[in-house]
Amino acid sequence: MSTIKKVEVGNKISAKVANQLHTLPWDNNEHACGDEKYLVFSDCEGKLVGVSLIRFLDKQTLYIGKFEVKRKYRGFGCGREMFDWITTNYPTKRVMLTHMDPTDDDGASYEFWKHMGFKRVDQIKHRMVKKIK
Ligand SMILES: CC(C)(COP(=O)(O)OP(=O)(O)OC[C@H]1O[C@@H](n2cnc3c(N)ncnc32)[C@H](O)[C@@H]1OP(=O)(O)O)[C@@H](O)C(=O)NCCC(=O)NCCS
Repeated sequence: MSTIKKVEVGNKISAKVANQLHTLPWDNNEHACGDEKYLVFSDCEGKLVGVSLIRFLDKQTLYIGKFEVKRKYRGFGCGREMFDWITTNYPTKRVMLTHMDPTDDDGASYEFWKHMGFKRVDQIKHRMVKKIK
């Protein structure tokens, strides 16, 4: 059963959205630049589920700059739903990202993306990539 019912695509996020996210730095005063897009995912009651910031690096490579599921929704498949929505609605040959663990160690974020099929391309810059069929 899917949790996500609505996705808003924009060039910034509201303070109301930013204030509900506590793990990554999200700034409601920041505007997306170039073809960057903020994706705001909500449930059937319009409650925030998560947010991602994406952009195309080139025609075949989508870059996920930030990706966070609101705390109370974690562990229920929402991260996978958000990722699937992104790759369905923004078809691409590969997805790249920089996993954002707070220390230099590979932590929960690295493990999540590895579980989602990403492979490490650069240990120092924490870059990972996944080929999409
Ligand atoms: C990482 C994060 C996005 C995962 O979201 P989530 O909604 O809890 O993930 P899901 O429930 O959709 O999990 C999807 C799959 O990944 C697995 N998974 C989730 N977290 C994992 C982890 N830390 N390590 C390994 N596997 C993990 C789940 O078991 C699930 O597996 P399955 O679909 O094969 O059964 C979420 O914990 C989060 O927002 N963390 C803080 C911000 C962050 O670290 N963002 C990523 C860096 S940019």
